[in-house]
Amino acid sequence: MAHFLWLLFLLISSATACDRCVHQSKADFFSSDAPLASGACGYASLALNLTGGRLAAAVASLYKGGAGCGACFQIRCKDPKLCSSSGTNVTVTDLNLNNQTDFVVSGTAFKAMANQGMDQDVLKLGIADVEYKRIPCVYQNQNLAVRVEDSSNNPNYLAIKLLYQGGQTDVTAMDVAQVGSPNWNPMSRNYGAVWDTSKVPTGALQFRFMVTSGLDGKWIWAQNVLPADWKSGQIYDSGVQITDIAQESCSPCDDGNW
Ligand SMILES: *[C@@H]1O[C@H](CO)[C@@H](O)[C@H](O)[C@H]1NC(C)=O
Ligand SMILES: *[C@@H]1O[C@H](CO)[C@@H](O)[C@H](O)[C@H]1NC(C)=O
Ligand SMILES: *[C@@H]1O[C@H](CO)[C@@H](O)[C@H](O)[C@H]1NC(C)=O
Repeated sequence: MAHFLWLLFLLISSATACDRCVHQSKADFFSSDAPLASGACGYASLALNLTGGRLAAAVASLYKGGAGCGACFQIRCKDPKLCSSSGTNVTVTDLNLNNQTDFVVSGTAFKAMANQGMDQDVLKLGIADVEYKRIPCVYQNQNLAVRVEDSSNNPNYLAIKLLYQGGQTDVTAMDVAQVGSPNWNPMSRNYGAVWDTSKVPTGALQFRFMVTSGLDGKWIWAQNVLPADWKSGQIYDSGVQITDIAQESCSPCDDGNW
């Protein structure tokens, strides 16, 4: 991890470190929101509650093997006659394997880029020229939550999914320990937003999440998350929320005008 962060630092310090960069690309859409809900991140029906159903499949470079799951982006189409300057905000729930566009978004999200009354004209574009930037995910009065996956089996196997991940950062590692114990066990990313371990500590469980913050890594500590009798299918409040921003490099930085 240290080597990786040092390399990241070298790469970023050769350009300008920014809170946000604006990227130029294209976006396509699914006529139904369902494929994105059942997407590679594994949110299933819970996805439809993220950013009001404005969901996106992101290319591999943004999906990052699942670390990009739950990331938020602001996307606007570049035709000012059809599209508003504020565009739409989406949450990543799936991997886009089509390398012609950086995003395939839900129909709900695609229409949300339109100026008033222009929904149908925007849909007719099919593939739109867009610009986009990563933005912080904001969940009002909602902490980071942990869903115990159906495949879990107390006390032998624990798989959890992160929900409502705030901030503008990626979770790059996760550890679990019994509440009050210093013996942290690493968990690994199973797929998408799901992390698992078959070395499950007994008792009530705490977690710590490594996120990228600024140019560096930082642990977020959730001191008491799962009760000893944690159950599959349940969602537990982590008691914490993430507000950090990971820097990316571009020149000039986005000035925040849209
Ligand atoms: C999703 O949103 C609906 C409508 O706001 C709400 O009734 C439902 O409880 C939410 N589901 C979850 C899992 O948060
Ligand atoms: C989209 O995100 C931007 C940047 O965080 C924010 O200023 C704007 O209010 C959001 N738009 C909506 C419709 O939530
Ligand atoms: C995009 O995908 C197609 C088909 O999978 C492939 O032939 C092509 O080389 C790819 N292009 C780039 C730029 O990766």
